[in-house]
Amino acid sequence: MTAFDDLRHLWLDRIAQASDEASLEELRVAALGKKGEISLKMRELGQMSAEERQVAGPALNALKDEVNSALVAKKAALGDAALDERLKAEWLDVTLPARHRRQGSIHPVSQVTEEVTAIFADMGFAVAEGPQIETDFYNFDALNIPGHHPARAEMDTFYTHRAEGDDRPPHVLRTHTSPVQIRYMEANGAPCRIIAPGRVYRADYDQTHTPMFHQVEGLAIDKDISMANLKWVLEEFFSAFFGTSVKTRFRASHFPFTEPSAEVDIQCSWEGGTVKVGEGNDWLEVLGSGMVHPKVLQAGGIDPNEWQGFAFGIGIDRLAMLKYGIPDLRAFFDSDLRWLRHYGFASLDMPNLHRG
Ligand code: DAH
Repeated sequence: MTAFDDLRHLWLDRIAQASDEASLEELRVAALGKKGEISLKMRELGQMSAEERQVAGPALNALKDEVNSALVAKKAALGDAALDERLKAEWLDVTLPARHRRQGSIHPVSQVTEEVTAIFADMGFAVAEGPQIETDFYNFDALNIPGHHPARAEMDTFYTHRAEGDDRPPHVLRTHTSPVQIRYMEANGAPCRIIAPGRVYRADYDQTHTPMFHQVEGLAIDKDISMANLKWVLEEFFSAFFGTSVKTRFRASHFPFTEPSAEVDIQCSWEGGTVKVGEGNDWLEVLGSGMVHPKVLQAGGIDPNEWQGFAFGIGIDRLAMLKYGIPDLRAFFDSDLRWLRHYGFASLDMPNLHRG
């Protein structure tokens, strides 16, 4: 029996010392596999005498069972230990504060566009849009700016390219939002009351000019609209926008698409080197306006003998600079994150609708 005892100790020891599942499997094959030591011993039973077999048989079977259960137990223990190791290594503190994520901000142009839209919506103006690549008809001719008119040259227009031999007039990047007037009248007729905010383009670049900038056009057509309505609407708008009552000054001017035409200044002060709107005795030019020219109404398919109205065009970027004290227009479009964080708005900042 000592031979079996030795064998038993040998295998139980080896199993106890196995350090991972792979070496445990090797041990199983070496002991109990087809050519394993214990399996071979079982096979020897056949050559024994009946008496020998009676003793050796149960002993070997018991040994086989014992080794088998030692293997199973060790395998479970190794599995537990491996899981413990993993849990220790992959431990995660779910109570840690989350990693900081940078928040974006709303660009002042977007914010001001929202503010302007909200104020005019309050006065019954709907929002209209038009294409940024315009035909030369909508950008100029329909607005009573014929081919030879100096306004075309003054506007530093960007023209698109036409193929060689194609003599149709080239499309332009719209130089103002005024073509939306024509498109809207054509599609909707009169009466109407709209604003059209959007991008416009001119080949110009300095502290107060960028090749792309933003305007908001206004158009109100009805049977008896006059300059008096225009003045009220604009004063109402500027007072709501700047949060204080703002006086306006109308100066006679000339635009091909309005008759009469006026440039409008708002009251401001320059005290202390910064401009403050709504106080003081100085004036700041902020927009062009007038009564829509009969030819423009006609181009929009509206009978000038029946309808009349006012139009205006304001620079949105200019408004943003004035309201939020931003000195250089070029920085608006540099995409400098420091600038955007400084002058940008949180996504939940509501348009300022306070009326002075
Ligand atoms: N379109 C003009 C510009 O870009 C601005 C303007 C002036 C628009 C008078 C108007 C207007 O609607 O009536 O300079």
